[in-house]
Amino acid sequence: MKTQIEKIREEFLKQLALIKDNEELRELELKYLSRKGEFSEIMHGLKDVSIELRKELGELANTVKGEMQTKFEEVRHSLESFAKKSDFIDVTLPGEKIENGHIHPVTLVQNELEDLFTSLGFMIGDGPELESDYYNFTALNVPPLHPARDMQDTFYIESKNKEDQYDLVMRTQTSPVQIRLMQKYGAPLKAIIPGRCFRNEATDSRHEHTFYQVEGIMVGKDINFANLKSLLEIVGKKLFGANTELRMRPKFFPFVEPGNNGEYTCFLCQGKGCRVCKYTGWLEIVGAGLIHPDVLRAGGVDPEIYSGLAFGFGLNRLAMLKYNINDVRLFNSGDIKFLEQF
Ligand code: PHE
Repeated sequence: MKTQIEKIREEFLKQLALIKDNEELRELELKYLSRKGEFSEIMHGLKDVSIELRKELGELANTVKGEMQTKFEEVRHSLESFAKKSDFIDVTLPGEKIENGHIHPVTLVQNELEDLFTSLGFMIGDGPELESDYYNFTALNVPPLHPARDMQDTFYIESKNKEDQYDLVMRTQTSPVQIRLMQKYGAPLKAIIPGRCFRNEATDSRHEHTFYQVEGIMVGKDINFANLKSLLEIVGKKLFGANTELRMRPKFFPFVEPGNNGEYTCFLCQGKGCRVCKYTGWLEIVGAGLIHPDVLRAGGVDPEIYSGLAFGFGLNRLAMLKYNINDVRLFNSGDIKFLEQF
């Protein structure tokens, strides 16, 4: 029996030295060290021998088993630390390059306007892109079937209301948020509303179905045309430089009265006339006017007490002028070569 124990020990150590992975290690454990392993059999056999021999052999068996257990643990440890080594990270290797994103040119212009207007005490408002017909048109003094609706080709969404009319429209302008903000905050109110708008355009280098505007609204006591003019002058100088001049020419917008187009001296030719300003020296930049009393009323503001001004910039056009971009469709193209320039 003594030799048997020795043999198991030798055999075990020999096999242990050849272990390559955890699976082999587990097999070895089963074969020798588990309750059904070879060693347990020996221990069982002890009950058939004399007391003295049992004592001697028992001691021997325990020492040998202890020794096997220790060696076994050693191998298990070294296997584990080997596995850990393969997770080792070489910090001296060159890293994976993480590309920086670029801020979209429309966002750049939007940020610039937001900075300017917040510094003038305006808050920044927001409204839904999928808008009700009421907010987008009716509340802005453009009732159903009114010819002024033709000014903006519109995407109606197929879902009819109780009156059997299409009630939902992708907003064609940020102006509906004028009404929403007046209803929410009342007067006095100073806000700009940057946002995405949609029109059913046949797209070309100057027309796009999805584009951005920044709306402005200022409601209070005695807000007048002089306020509008000075505000638009400040914006022009900020956008196009200190020498920029503003001229205002009458233009019809249903929600303002009087309404006008704000034009700035062409920054490219300094007003002399060039291709970009179509040789007029002026750039049409902003629609504006004093808010129509009906619109104030729709916003829950009493036109007998308050008056207001409103204006709307096309952000894409501003970005096109500022960065010399010749095709409006580039903005939505997702073209990396275009976007990486900003
Ligand atoms: N919403 C108008 C447009 O999209 C612009 C505008 C805004 C004009 C506010 C006047 C006042 O054409």
